[in-house]
Formats: sequence, structure tokens, C-alpha cells
Amino acid sequence: MRQLSSAVGIGFRKEIAEETLALAKSQIGFLEVAPENWMGLGGRSRQLLERAIEKFPLTCHGLSLSLGSPEPLDECFLRELKQFFAQLPVCLYSEHLSYCKCGNAHLYDLLPMPFNEEAVAHVAKRIRKVQDFLERPIAIENISYYYSCEPQISEAEFLTRVVEESDCGLLLDVNNVYVNAFNHGYDPYQFLENIPLEKVVHIHIAGHEKVAPDLIIDTHAEPIIDPVYQLLEWTLNHIDPVPILLERDSKFDDFAALIEEVEALKGIVERVYALK
Ligand SMILES: [Fe+2]
Repeated sequence: MRQLSSAVGIGFRKEIAEETLALAKSQIGFLEVAPENWMGLGGRSRQLLERAIEKFPLTCHGLSLSLGSPEPLDECFLRELKQFFAQLPVCLYSEHLSYCKCGNAHLYDLLPMPFNEEAVAHVAKRIRKVQDFLERPIAIENISYYYSCEPQISEAEFLTRVVEESDCGLLLDVNNVYVNAFNHGYDPYQFLENIPLEKVVHIHIAGHEKVAPDLIIDTHAEPIIDPVYQLLEWTLNHIDPVPILLERDSKFDDFAALIEEVEALKGIVERVYALK
């Protein structure tokens, strides 16, 4: 990850692939893809991916490993993943601290694990297994969640214990911190002070939607709001430089506005590191 330092990147999406590939190398520090959306594909998809890696560094952010599931890890999927990584210069692979599979149900949602010691031991063991199998460190992301399942320890303690026990990196999503803090009524800065910031290897940031006075949904479809930019700036002042990804999952019609957000993020990075 050292080569990416404090680069700012965006997700590489088929909806905006041509506009993204037309950007100058100086405009974007790296691209992120979900391996599930590109593995095993040929034709135009493969060509797009190859054009992308010719021009920009690549990171991968998984969607379906389901680290928190009770059933065994999907070894077939892990083998495909390893093969994909062997073919491409992937700087970092990250996944979510969550589950999306249980029995024969495979959901598109990322569900929160129970915040307790048993879940820490379970998921930490699985993260170690994945790192051993892939022969590379991975980073896990703090997800946004809308209910917690009989918590016995705090979310910050849960995240800290998992990172410590599995010896993985932390992908800190600052928008998720803001969304969770708002929805569950805690101070986002206190949360950040209670997690191992020295383990942060990557940052995600995004927009969200306030759908009720007491509820925010993590949509990745709106512009980033100022309090989330401020959380990012506070975080950057407390960690070593890491790459920052602007996440956008829909509403791609205004690509120029998306790039303006990238510029705003680069401005924050420059300001923070000019002062250090
Ligand atoms: Fe994220």
C-alpha cells in the first residue's frame, strides 16, 4: 500500500468506465473494484479492466466473502479470488466485518455481527484463515448497521478486538462512523479515539441520505456532507498517510461533480500534510 500513500481514488464502475479511463493519471490516484463483479469475465468487461490497470493502480473491495457467517468459508470462491489476484497487480484486498450468507440465504445486505467475545473469536479465526490462504494481509471495514444484536461489548471494542486478534488491517469508513454515531446516538470522535487508528491502512468516504429526523441511510449516492469531511480531516491528523476512496454506488449522471468531490478530498489531504 505504500505506493498509494495518501492517494484519492474512486470505484471503477461499468456505468462510468469510459469517463474514468479518460481521466488524466494526475486526477485519480487509484481505482477500486469489487472482485465479484469482474472475476471470470471476458469480452468488454475484461478489456475495460485491462485498460484500467494499464493506467491506474488497483485495489479490491470484496462483497460476498461473508466473514461473519456461521458456516465454513467458501473455499471455491477463495480459490477464484486468489487466481484473480495472481493475474492482476492488486495493491490491497478488503472486506466487510459483517455477514451476508446464512444457510441457503445469500443476501445483498451486509448484516452486523453480534458484538460479543464469541463473535470476535469466530471472525478473527476466519480472517486469519483468509490471510493465510490468500498469502496476503487483508483489511476489514467497519460497516454501517441499523440494529445491534444483543451487544455485550461496544462496537468500538468489538472492532478493536477483531483487528487485534486477527492481525489484519483496518479499512476505516468515516461515513459509516458518522452514520452509525447518528443512528445509534454516540459521539463519532469518541468512537475514533477508542479504536486502533494505528491499524488503519485505507479509508472510505461517501455520501448518505437522511430519511427521517433520527435515521440516516448509508446510500453512497449523495454528496459527502461537511461533518463527514471534518471527520476525515480529524482522522488524517491522527494516522499515517493512507489511500482514500470516494465510494459511489448510484447516481452517476454528474461525473464532473464526482470529480469535484475527489478534488475536495485531495485539498484536505494537501492541507493536513502541509501542516504536519
Ligand atoms: Fe465503505
